[in-house]
This record gives sequence, C-alpha cells and structure tokens, in this order.
Amino acid sequence: MTTGTDLWKRAKELIPGGSMLLSKRAEMYLPEGWPAYFDRTEGCAIWDLDGNKYLDLGFMGVGTNILGYSHPKVDEAVRKTIDKGNLSTLNAPEEVYLAEALIELHPWADMARFARSGGEACAIAVRIGRAASGKDKVAFCGYHGWHDWYLAANLGEDDSLDGHLIPGLEPNGVPRALQGTSIPFQFNDLEALKTILENDDQIGVIYMEVQRSEPPAPGFLEGVRELATKHGAVLIFDECTSGFRRTLGGLHLHFGVDPDIATFGKTLGNGYAITAIIGRASVMEAAQTTFISSTFWTERIGPTAALATLEVMREENATQRVHEIGTEVQERWHASAEGLGLQISTGGLPALANFSVRGLDPLAVKTFITAQMLEQGYLAGPNLYASIAHTDVILDGYINALAPVLGMLANMSDGELAVQLPYGSAQSGFKRLT
Ligand SMILES: Cc1ncc(COP(=O)(O)O)c(C=O)c1O
Repeated sequence: MTTGTDLWKRAKELIPGGSMLLSKRAEMYLPEGWPAYFDRTEGCAIWDLDGNKYLDLGFMGVGTNILGYSHPKVDEAVRKTIDKGNLSTLNAPEEVYLAEALIELHPWADMARFARSGGEACAIAVRIGRAASGKDKVAFCGYHGWHDWYLAANLGEDDSLDGHLIPGLEPNGVPRALQGTSIPFQFNDLEALKTILENDDQIGVIYMEVQRSEPPAPGFLEGVRELATKHGAVLIFDECTSGFRRTLGGLHLHFGVDPDIATFGKTLGNGYAITAIIGRASVMEAAQTTFISSTFWTERIGPTAALATLEVMREENATQRVHEIGTEVQERWHASAEGLGLQISTGGLPALANFSVRGLDPLAVKTFITAQMLEQGYLAGPNLYASIAHTDVILDGYINALAPVLGMLANMSDGELAVQLPYGSAQSGFKRLT
C-alpha cells in the first residue's frame, strides 16, 4: 500500500469513477499497485506522493505533453500571465493572437473559437456545423468526447440494444429522442459513408479523425471531402489528438485535404487547458446564429500557454521529432521482439505508437508489462506517446528495461501469464470505433 493507492481507494468513495478521465483510472493500468497520483513533474519524470520517481514512457499526460512536463518556457509564460491577472471583465488579448497564429498555420481557415476541453470543442464544432448546414444529423467515425450528440450513437431501439456500436460507452442519461441522429461509419469505408449520405438527406455534419490507427487509404480523405461538398455537409476533422504530431498544425496538412472545421486539444497547451475550433468564415459565422458562450473559455492561461507552446514547438521542431522518436521506438520494439522470438505488431500514428503481442491476451500483456516496468521505475505499457523529453539516453534505458520483460512474455502461455497477475488484468476502456 502506498500513499497513492490508498488515496485512490478514498477517491472512489468520493468521486464517481475515482477520476474525471476514464484513462486516469488506476484499474486501467494495474489493479492494486498503480501510483495513481503525482506530486511533481519534470521532462518525462513524474514523482508520486511517496517521492518515488518514474519515467513516463507511456501516455505522457494522456497525450497532452509533447514538449515534456513542466516545460520551463511554457510555465514561465503562464507565470507572467498569473502575475498580470488571469481573468477580468475585459478580454484577454492572447485570444486574438492565438486565433491569428492558428489561421496562419491553416490557410484554409478564417476564424477560430476556443474552449477548454476536447469534448466541448467537438460539441461546439457540431453545433456550428448543424447551424451552418441547417441539417441535424451527424455521420462520424472515431472518438469525439462525452457529449450527448456523440453518445447518441449508442442508443439502440431499446435498452438491450444500447451500447452496441461503441462498446464500453453507456448512453444512460442521453435522451432516447436523439437515437438515429449520430450515425457511425468505419474509417476507410468510403462506400459506407456514401450510402449513409445517399439514404439520408438530413446529414449536416461529417465528423472524423484524419488518422487514428491505420493510415487513410489512397483517395479516402479526398473522397470524404467530395462527398461532404456534394451533399452539403460540413466536414469536421477532429485533430484533438492527431494535431501537432506530424506537422505544425493538423495532420490533414500532411495529407493535403482541407476540412471546413478542425478541432484541436491535447497538445495545444502542453498540459494547460486550451482547445480550439477553427474553420472557414462561411461556416464559423453560423456560431452567431446560435448560442455558444461560457465564462471560463475567456480565461487567459489557456491561450497564453498555447502561444508559448506553439513557439517552443517551432523552435524545437517538436512535431517532426515526436514523429521520428515514435518511428524509431516502433523499430526498436520490433528488433527487441525478433531477437527474443516474440511476434508483435505495431500500430498507430508513429507519435502515438502501440504494439500488441501475437497469441496472448492483450489486457494481460498490458498489465504484465505495466507491473514489470513499474518495478524498474517506468510508467509504461505496450504504447508510447512520444515527447521531445524522450531523449536518446532515456529511450536506450527504456528499451533495455523492456527487453527482459518481452523475453519473459516470449516464453509464456495465456495461462502462465494469468498466474503472474495476482490482482487480475487491467480493465479495458471502451472500444474505439475506427
Ligand atoms: C480525437 C479526440 N477527440 C476528442 C477527445 C476528447 O477530448 P477531452 O478528453 O479533452 O474531452 C479526445 C480525447 O481523447 C480525442 O482523442
């Protein structure tokens, strides 16, 4: 029992689910034994409440910190803002500077709105898209947050059919009247999207990630773009997670296909809360025909952090570097595994890389790796969200620590693996609809 594991038990009594984010539940990593809480951070290091230091070679703030934790330049900019004042009756000028900066990076866009979480940025984008197209329904693939518009996809004809599309996301509390308003399609299945659009003239929004796991098939993004234009639907690319991990801006810049709106989150403030909705003026002006407004969307730390983050990303060539780090780590996973006779598959955008071990239960593998790496001072499972704080020295140490763990897996059956997990496997999250 550590201070963190004890606090996690108290949290579950006081906070439904223990944490506000599914991906921060201790059981998602290691039932019993996950440190759960942090005291301080620096680079890719995290100190828990008992002063133990871990190197984060896993999720790096669940994808927020590509510049590393506690980046001195970003923190310094934020400190200056705190000294001057974070919120007043008048507006923060940084909002305008940030709008200009994002539009400069995305020449197809003319206007921006800001929020503080990814899910709310997506909800804002959907509202604007519906208002601009004058049509209610959304065709989507991928994950876009917790709001009613998205969870509506999991409403079945009745309770027994609820939850079948995106397993693990319960739609209780979402009005059943929204059933049929969000219609999923599979990534890379252009024909499926075409059929949805041809059979329903009320689709006003197409919402998708440019890439999550597999890359877009040749012509897929272009085809989606054409269909959106042809059917009068607003095309929204969700760059909340993919943004700034391949180009300085959205991943769509890399593929050369422009949406009507793009949403950004996660990396934009390197750990400070700031998300953005950018778009063409013809679509964004519809925000004025509806009501989208919130007090804390106007605080100053968020846009201050985003401006500083953009500056450091540019100086450090961070977006290219995380792509290269991820590519290298994928190669090194393969090299280690091959040498040990273990068969693995790697996937994901290189900067959000993951691997799975062929022939073994993925959750048991994740739990085993997590437990073994924790003992060696790493927060790491079968994935790496790359950060520029992952230096060559740190990566060498990580690969050296991981190799014997992979070696143990190479000699285990599912049954033998289960024996190694006295508290069972980590819980799974939801199954993404890719
Ligand atoms: C593509 C995408 N959209 C939206 C979200 C929701 O963002 P948030 O958790 O900040 O609400 C996420 C979070 O993982 C995401 O990956």
